[in-house]
Amino acid sequence: MNEYKKIPLSYNSLEPIIDDKTLNLHYGVHYQNYTDKLNKLLKENNYDYKNSAIYLAQNIDIIPIKDRDEILYNLGGYLNHSLYFYNLTDKKKEMPSELIKLINKNFGSVNKFKEEFITMAKEVKGSGYTFLVIDKNNNLKIINTSNQDTPYYYGFIPIMTIDVWEHSYYLKYTYDRSKYLDNIFNIIDFEKVYNLYLDNTK
Ligand SMILES: [Fe+2]
Repeated sequence: MNEYKKIPLSYNSLEPIIDDKTLNLHYGVHYQNYTDKLNKLLKENNYDYKNSAIYLAQNIDIIPIKDRDEILYNLGGYLNHSLYFYNLTDKKKEMPSELIKLINKNFGSVNKFKEEFITMAKEVKGSGYTFLVIDKNNNLKIINTSNQDTPYYYGFIPIMTIDVWEHSYYLKYTYDRSKYLDNIFNIIDFEKVYNLYLDNTK
């Protein structure tokens, strides 16, 4: 590996939930910029790319402290967008029954989970994200992060996220973050979410 790359998309369009213009700008410009900036900063540090970007996020002390701040920001931007675009789908899929059991155990019911997730996402101040994460005891939690902080920096493993930076919705929804949140829940691929849970709790 000689640099970190954007994840490929398994869809061309998420209309009508996410309009094509937003998808293209978000994936093609914003996510690209974080990826390019991260690689530029790492190359200036003679970084060896031996490990994954997730490993780097969990071991950021290998970067000299003077360069850490900017690398943390762009690494977060890279990882958060990678998960966001990975989570979305143009094919309607049912939530796996094993994930439903887990959600019931952690949140009471799927409806309560959705309600809690959306309530948290509405509360993100300024720019940030809401995540479903695995904690150290393999429990599921919903957390918010600001700007481009990623849950890895706080010892959590994210398995689902919704980007609530305005750039992810304002072209279509203007100020209506609530409507964006209600709609985007319908295009989350919960099979992928569950597979990430399994991969990270072995
Ligand atoms: Fe974004």
